[in-house]
Amino acid sequence: MVSSISKSESAGLPSGIKAPVQETLLTPRFYTTNFDAVAEMDLSGQQAELEAVVAELRADYNRHHFVRNQEFEQCWDNIDGETRKAFIDFLERSCTSEFSGFLLFKELSRKLKNRQPLLSEAFNLLARDEARHAGFLNKAMADFGLSLDLGYLTKNRTYTFFPPEWVIYTVYLSEKIGYWRYILVYRHLQQHPEHQIYPLFRYFENWCQDENRHGDFFKALLRSQPQLWNNWKARLWARFFLLTVFATHTMTVLERSTFYDSIGIDPQEYNKQVIDRTNETAKRAFPSILDTHHPEFFPRLERCAIANQKLAEISSNQRPAAIQFCQKLPLIAAIFWQLLRLYLLPSINAESSRTAIN
Ligand SMILES: [Fe+2]
Ligand SMILES: [Fe+2]
Repeated sequence: MVSSISKSESAGLPSGIKAPVQETLLTPRFYTTNFDAVAEMDLSGQQAELEAVVAELRADYNRHHFVRNQEFEQCWDNIDGETRKAFIDFLERSCTSEFSGFLLFKELSRKLKNRQPLLSEAFNLLARDEARHAGFLNKAMADFGLSLDLGYLTKNRTYTFFPPEWVIYTVYLSEKIGYWRYILVYRHLQQHPEHQIYPLFRYFENWCQDENRHGDFFKALLRSQPQLWNNWKARLWARFFLLTVFATHTMTVLERSTFYDSIGIDPQEYNKQVIDRTNETAKRAFPSILDTHHPEFFPRLERCAIANQKLAEISSNQRPAAIQFCQKLPLIAAIFWQLLRLYLLPSINAESSRTAIN
């Protein structure tokens, strides 16, 4: 676990500004990359596709979407206790992850300005969307008497370096999983309006289309780089990133089950649906995907989530660090073991079905 925010730093924040949650392996990360390598990418293999996606981004279909309606104008003290805590946690993590996208895209746009004009414009448009998403979520936090100091977050978070290839795999996946996460919540609440306890979710239908377009842009970028899909290493990397994103999703959703319960969603079932659909979608971009229908697939992921919850319990007990470490070790080993077994399960070759899909 990485902790980048000291108590004294967070204590200096004005009241009403929420100190960011302690950074752990599961909190959304902030990324930086090799900008020169991105500037030198040859995009010619997907030029037409990239131009088409950028034209879609330029159209800015959601320009008038993120405007708060009257429904927000009321007191939200009825959402209280554990539900309120879970709600704030959901809003904060979502806001942080949208904002993390904004920072990365903005920096990419800036660094590519005179070297890759098409990419620079695309990243600028992506940053525009993510800033809207983060801002909208931050206003939702204000309904609960809190807000995130995004400037503070920018300066104080640890930035993780990812080479461009990793950025492309992971951002593609996070956009597509974001799409499925939002649309499945939206559809559920349409069918069960009695659980519509806060108006934010009504915005998810158009919102998720932004994420879908972002994912399509990264798909075109990924397919423009043959080394990301036409060899055995690419197949191994693709499955590695699918597994890490799905494991993180399972741990986060099951850890936050109170939030899903509060809107009438079965977290286990929701997690399965999000993962199944994201995996199926990834078939269009990745050379290889996971067999999520294998009988061992979800039970092993869920065992990781149980071990992760026990790790969190140990972290919050008052025992000395050395004892905590000894308690954690078998659980960390169990998580790695489950992930290794999952990684070694038979996979699905996505290239062979590509012509049928496209
Ligand atoms: Fe977003
Ligand atoms: Fe996005």
